Amino acid sequence: METRPQLNIDLNSMMRVARSIPYIGNKGNPSNGSLWLVDVFTFKKERLFYFMSKVAVVYWSGTGNTEAMAMAVAEGAKEKGAEVSVLPASEFSADQVSSFDAIAFGCPSMGAEQLEEMEFEPMFSACENRLSGKNIALFGSYGWGDGEWMRSWEARCNDDGANLACDSVICNETPDDDGLAACRNLGASLA
Ligand SMILES: Cc1cc2nc3c(=O)[nH]c(=O)nc-3n(C[C@H](O)[C@H](O)[C@H](O)COP(=O)(O)O)c2cc1C
Repeated sequence: METRPQLNIDLNSMMRVARSIPYIGNKGNPSNGSLWLVDVFTFKKERLFYFMSKVAVVYWSGTGNTEAMAMAVAEGAKEKGAEVSVLPASEFSADQVSSFDAIAFGCPSMGAEQLEEMEFEPMFSACENRLSGKNIALFGSYGWGDGEWMRSWEARCNDDGANLACDSVICNETPDDDGLAACRNLGASLA
């Protein structure tokens, strides 16, 4: 006997959807939010889908200070509901830029107020022509300078057309509690 596929429609569910207004609640970030249905009679709301934004934390660190900052950035983004990938500079390439909604880049001041030149600089410069309109944020540790490397890095990102989503975070050598809290906020603002 021929069996036909059966479409099981739950009339109650159909009515519920039909009399609801859909809206996206996203706290300003279109890639991280929820699709809600609001019942026009009862005003009850129900979440249909949850979108997670994808955030990459890409960093280089020689003695661990910027790495500690990177972990705090990741923590802040996760707490805000983002799906976070923490990647050393050697494991990130320009091809991956489009896979993320936002990217936090971390690099200490090296050379003479420069980005680390063996791994981070080549990786970052390859990414630059893909950063236009991208939500990014910068962080890193420094020693004896006054943060000049970060100012020139920010200028570079602005020239690339990147959207610096929040103030950069710089920490003198090992990040203290305030520095780590600032890193968590930076992560949260990208989520
Ligand atoms: C080769 C080298 C060059 C550095 N150049 C600078 C510099 O120009 N300005 C500065 O403020 N700190 C400079 N520093 C200090 C580092 O930025 C600082 O120690 C930082 O905390 C290192 O971060 P990390 O632990 O993530 O590698 C330099 C350190 C090294 C090893």
